[in-house]
Amino acid sequence: MVDFWVADLGKKEEGKLQIEWAERNMPVLMKLRKKYLGNQPLRGMRVAACLHVTKETAVLVKTLIAWGAEVFLAASNPLSTQDEVAAALVDEGANVFAKRGESADEYLWAIRTIVEKTPDIVIDDGGDVHAYLHEKDRERAKHVKGGTEETTTGVIRLKALEKEGSLIYPVFAVNDALTKHMFDNRYGTGQSTIDGLLRATNMLIAGKTVVVAGYGWVGKGIASRAKGMGARVIITEVNPVRALEAVMDGYEVMPMAKAAEIGDVFVTASGNKDVIRWEHMKKMKDGSVLGNSGHFNVEVSVKDLEENAEGWREIRKNLREYKLKDGRRLYLVGEGRLLNLVAAEGHPSEVMDMSFANQALAAKIIAESTGLERRVLNVPKEVDLEIATMKLESMGVEIDKLTEEQQRYLESWRLE
Ligand code: ADE
Repeated sequence: MVDFWVADLGKKEEGKLQIEWAERNMPVLMKLRKKYLGNQPLRGMRVAACLHVTKETAVLVKTLIAWGAEVFLAASNPLSTQDEVAAALVDEGANVFAKRGESADEYLWAIRTIVEKTPDIVIDDGGDVHAYLHEKDRERAKHVKGGTEETTTGVIRLKALEKEGSLIYPVFAVNDALTKHMFDNRYGTGQSTIDGLLRATNMLIAGKTVVVAGYGWVGKGIASRAKGMGARVIITEVNPVRALEAVMDGYEVMPMAKAAEIGDVFVTASGNKDVIRWEHMKKMKDGSVLGNSGHFNVEVSVKDLEENAEGWREIRKNLREYKLKDGRRLYLVGEGRLLNLVAAEGHPSEVMDMSFANQALAAKIIAESTGLERRVLNVPKEVDLEIATMKLESMGVEIDKLTEEQQRYLESWRLE
């Protein structure tokens, strides 16, 4: 019997249409679903997944169920759940514990609930379930055969756990697969961040000065999309190599203390906390828009905004206007949480196709392996190549093949 806590089961038909649309645009995952249907690689596996409950996640969850798994799903962000998708997934046989706008306590309750199902496999986005198992439920962690992690932030947390020698089960760093971060982090976040900014503000990007904090894959994606729409883009960085790369990619680079005075729009993508704090806010122009596309809601200090504001009001959906004591107004998108998922629908299906193909194949490897090392593991290179090949095929793109002579040439160290 399916167990669930969702907002409204009556929305399931609406959710099914959304999922059908995502399935059309996720050809790699759909092909994999079909390919291994007969083998039932996840038969008997209990999978706890903590992911944004979106139409794309639904395509992954349906694939895991089709491969024989029992799935328990919680949201990886209190504001990103698409309630109609949650309802449809319950109808598809998933145990879903997620409601858009759930409180911090409910968010934690949902994580505890999926952990208490004693999973064999844990699929995480941000590392909260892995952290919960290692901190609060080590007995259940010992039962876990293996896990996966979707994000840069989560992989950093897991590597810290590994370094301490405390990792209890092996975890595949799905984020680190090339067919994940080169596309999802860059093109997915790049486009969906602009999408969220537009839905929340409907502003004209052309002619604006957009400040992007962090020039990792996510920062690169946002910067290139903003530039493509006619913005003047400024990058702030702490890493000299990345800063140099940004300069040579044609962006202005400067400290946030300077950029704060110039920017119209500020988007954080650094993975760190307090990247925009009062010392910056106090210099910003009246009307500046602030948002975050990093995993956690710690990059823009909402506490600093609240402490220095006379009050706030929701001026549009997902847009809060803070009236500061000096009379300026600053605008915060999506409460400083992942704006691309709160104010828009997250990454488009076409990129989640590759990210979730990696997730599905990593779960399959865990189920089929014995004795995986208790480490943060890379998804095998062959999986990356298989996914890229399938994606190209689905796009009708053909590429060259090495001749035997070229292959020999590449493998030889000799002079001739
Ligand atoms: N992370 C970013 N975009 C996403 C989406 N559309 N679905 C699930 N997780 C996501």
